Amino acid sequence: MSAVQQASLIEALRAVKDPELHVDIVSLGMIEDLRVEGGAVSLTVNLTTPGCPLKAQIEKDVRDALGKVPGVGSVQVKMGAKVRRSIETTDNLIPEVANVVAIGSGKGGVGKSTVSVNLALAFARSGASVGLLDADVYGPNDPQMLGTKLKPEIQDRKILPVTVHGLKLMSMAFFLKEDEPVIWRGPMLHGAIKQFLGDVQWGRLDYLFIDLPPGTGDVQLTLSQVIPLTGAVLVTTPQDVALLDVRKAAAMFRKVNVPILGVIENMSYFNCPHCGERSEIFSHGGGRKTAEANDAPLLGEIPLDIRVRQGGDDGLPVVVHDPKSGPALAFRDMAEKLAAIISVNTYRKFQSEVMARP
Ligand SMILES: Nc1ncnc2c1ncn2[C@@H]1O[C@H](COP(=O)(O)OP(=O)(O)O)[C@@H](O)[C@H]1O
Ligand SMILES: [Mg+2]
Repeated sequence: MSAVQQASLIEALRAVKDPELHVDIVSLGMIEDLRVEGGAVSLTVNLTTPGCPLKAQIEKDVRDALGKVPGVGSVQVKMGAKVRRSIETTDNLIPEVANVVAIGSGKGGVGKSTVSVNLALAFARSGASVGLLDADVYGPNDPQMLGTKLKPEIQDRKILPVTVHGLKLMSMAFFLKEDEPVIWRGPMLHGAIKQFLGDVQWGRLDYLFIDLPPGTGDVQLTLSQVIPLTGAVLVTTPQDVALLDVRKAAAMFRKVNVPILGVIENMSYFNCPHCGERSEIFSHGGGRKTAEANDAPLLGEIPLDIRVRQGGDDGLPVVVHDPKSGPALAFRDMAEKLAAIISVNTYRKFQSEVMARP
């Protein structure tokens, strides 16, 4: 029997398509370390995000495709991930961060921090390297929600983020005295946000989430000026007042050319723990309406759930503390959807850049 040729393996792998991008995995650059010794084939398949729910499917397709090549005896597949960079930064801010996702809302109290913390944790649990920047300078409470009392250290004139549950965390709360109100003026905010990006040793990150203050103020503006954002996720509650506010936030992101990656409806409904009846306390469907109005997907609906609130208050986020609970699974599902949207957008962006070249 003649030895198996690399070329015929590559040809066979071209039949395997990424189910979301509809492009073959060779063209996508997902194949690495393809080796063949006699009939034994080994390779690494790098997914575009580690938590990809299609991992098992792609692995099976690869095995099937290679198994059909004459002479192949065994196939050893290592599934890895390489998250692509969706942004390019100038002046050396966050040079090793692949994606920056801002979490915004029209008004406060809709659960933006709860979503930021749990979504970031869900990404981290999928195997991604994740940072969380608590940029809600008016009410920074992500450290409390994550249950950490650590403070950042300084090394080589850079601020080291605090690591908690595998997340790299930075927050204005680290630098304020408790109960001390802060009055910010525009230029001060600009400086603080720039420092959070430039003077913090974020290192290599697949995803950096930014928990924004509510509304459409200076922080949002500064961010969109100093770094390119992969996109924004909007959090809303179902009722009309929140909807009006979130519409303004959406309009602001569009104005500064930040794509809206998706919408999350929080406090969507309540399942009575006693009788099981579902009540829609704040009405229902606002998230879907917002998503449709912005031509963005609805990433998910999170129920009003006592475990979510307690998790936040006690510093035991539900995604870590009760990972099998309904709300935790909802966050995991939203994280998978969001990661896929980011991968597809990034691919399209580079695809069109390649095509635009003369
Ligand atoms: N789905 C939910 N179920 C129960 N409580 C929630 C839920 N989402 C948020 N909360 C609670 O509501 C309060 C406000 O949420 P928070 O995330 O701080 O909002 P924001 O950052 O938008 O101001 C917090 O006490 C939080 O624990
Ligand atoms: Mg908040």
